[in-house]
Amino acid sequence: MAVIAGNWKMHHGPAEAVRFLERFDAATLSASHELIVFPPAVSLAVVAGSSLRDPRLQVGAQNIFWEDSGAFTGELSAPMAADAGATFALIGHSERRHVFGESSEDTRRKVEASVRAGLSPVLCVGETLDERRSGSLERVILSQLDAALPALREADRFLLAYEPVWAIGTGETATPDDASTAHGTLRERLAEVIGPVGASRVPILYGGSVKPGNAAELLSAADVDGVLVGGASLEPSSFLNIGAAVN
Ligand code: PGA
Repeated sequence: MAVIAGNWKMHHGPAEAVRFLERFDAATLSASHELIVFPPAVSLAVVAGSSLRDPRLQVGAQNIFWEDSGAFTGELSAPMAADAGATFALIGHSERRHVFGESSEDTRRKVEASVRAGLSPVLCVGETLDERRSGSLERVILSQLDAALPALREADRFLLAYEPVWAIGTGETATPDDASTAHGTLRERLAEVIGPVGASRVPILYGGSVKPGNAAELLSAADVDGVLVGGASLEPSSFLNIGAAVN
């Protein structure tokens, strides 16, 4: 089983989201794939509630705030995302960390909020090019994981996404070996904390310039259980072709 997840980022408002759903039909994809899409907040309820939505397509929020309600102008809470039909929440995406200054402490609080609301957290971790070049890859991704792990283990189910910052939206993709090495590091830490059986059940997705042409190779790498796709998830045909590449 592979998890094929699409992160629309700041694309596809309600009207575009409906056009996507009209053209998204997963009938050709292996029934064992798990399909998730992360629309922008304004399109969450539209996608989740649409009769046009392929019932296999699950829905998640791209970001949530850690408080459940209150005077936090512009924010979306986990209970609201759940009410809109989300069942997953992406947490700590590299754009949240690097563009909006989100810290690992923030991600921990967001994981706690998503667990409280019954959402499955998808924690994203990844190193910058400088961190990779200076040999800090392991330290960086493990510290990002460690900060959130006590909260993650409270979830009925959680996922991880390894997304090297230098590979996001750049056309640069990690090699299958790069992905396997990082995923193996994460899996080992999970095994230390939740045991090998629990660790083997946590899907670890790779993200960063995944396309129909490289998905099969990445998904055949050890410890790669799925993909988190940005740009190539915006078109139904290309998102479906990523799934089809590993049918
Ligand atoms: P990309 O984005 O596929 O456009 O590189 C991946 C992501 O940021 O989740």
